[in-house]
Amino acid sequence: MEKLVSNWSSNVGAVPEDYIYPPETRPGNMHIPIGESIPVIDLSQADKGDRTLTIQKIINASQEFGFFKVINHGIPENVLKEAMSVWKEFFESPAEAKKDLYADSFTMKDCWLSPSSLNYGREKVHMWREGLRHSCHPLQKWHHMWPQTPPRYQEILRLISEGLGLNGEFLDEYSQTMVLSANYYPACPQPELTLGVAKHADPSIITLLLQDGVSGLQVLKDDTWIGVDPNPHAIVVNIASQLQVICNDKLKTAEHRAVTNSRKARISAAFFIGALGESIIEPAKALVDELRPPIYKSFKSKEFLPKLYENYGDSQATLEFFKA
Ligand code: OGA
Ligand code: NI
Repeated sequence: MEKLVSNWSSNVGAVPEDYIYPPETRPGNMHIPIGESIPVIDLSQADKGDRTLTIQKIINASQEFGFFKVINHGIPENVLKEAMSVWKEFFESPAEAKKDLYADSFTMKDCWLSPSSLNYGREKVHMWREGLRHSCHPLQKWHHMWPQTPPRYQEILRLISEGLGLNGEFLDEYSQTMVLSANYYPACPQPELTLGVAKHADPSIITLLLQDGVSGLQVLKDDTWIGVDPNPHAIVVNIASQLQVICNDKLKTAEHRAVTNSRKARISAAFFIGALGESIIEPAKALVDELRPPIYKSFKSKEFLPKLYENYGDSQATLEFFKA
């Protein structure tokens, strides 16, 4: 339990050595402004006759940034607020209350509180965070416990499918699992030396991210970091790596990271939506032909995560492994 940053972070004036990133990957003192450029999609417009325009905006954003934000997504504000407060209460509860869920190496626990990444023992530098993870799969099994219809992720996937020129339901088959990863980033005395989450691309199909109003998320675009504004009412969506494979590079996954700050703890919750482990991931047949041959080979979805961990931080190297 002493590995949980929140157990000791408020008692230290300096970051311990094994949390200090090397100069080339640490955030440093450079000020990264919040970019106004990450597109905002009004999901309600998709129902109001503006479907084509909404699809076009999503595809453009996915091609340019691999990221966009959705508003009017149908989840009531009080539900988002309530969810955040539950996570906050959990993360800020005494160590004693967390100990049954805690594990510092890979575990099959249904619900798991881990320090840093899932690989604490094997990482060179630890991340300034702790994470609560549990799967929400199969959806039917967990649905009834959810406060409202889950984030209209199926609608988002349908808009993406249509935008790719695929049947609207095409991606339904690849979105049968959902893993929740709630992140807690305690305030850090030297944020310039640490990372809450090091640079990475997400593994699955899409990720939906909720934030609590404290900034920290940054997206890499053309070798430049862009800050994402932490609007707690919007949902941040990002194109994950296996979707890049399915659409044969028509959309690109975006690398991102989370930085810490010295003033305030931050909470975010990522919902990773992806395929069942045994599902075959490959470029959609409808998107390949003689002129656009498949860039990737076929593989099982469950083969992806181990490769991502092998190449953590280098999403290109991970994708390279699955090239045809
Ligand atoms: C993640 C992630 C970013 C954040 O959990 O995969 O990228 O802002 N989180 O917490
Ligand atoms: Ni991520």
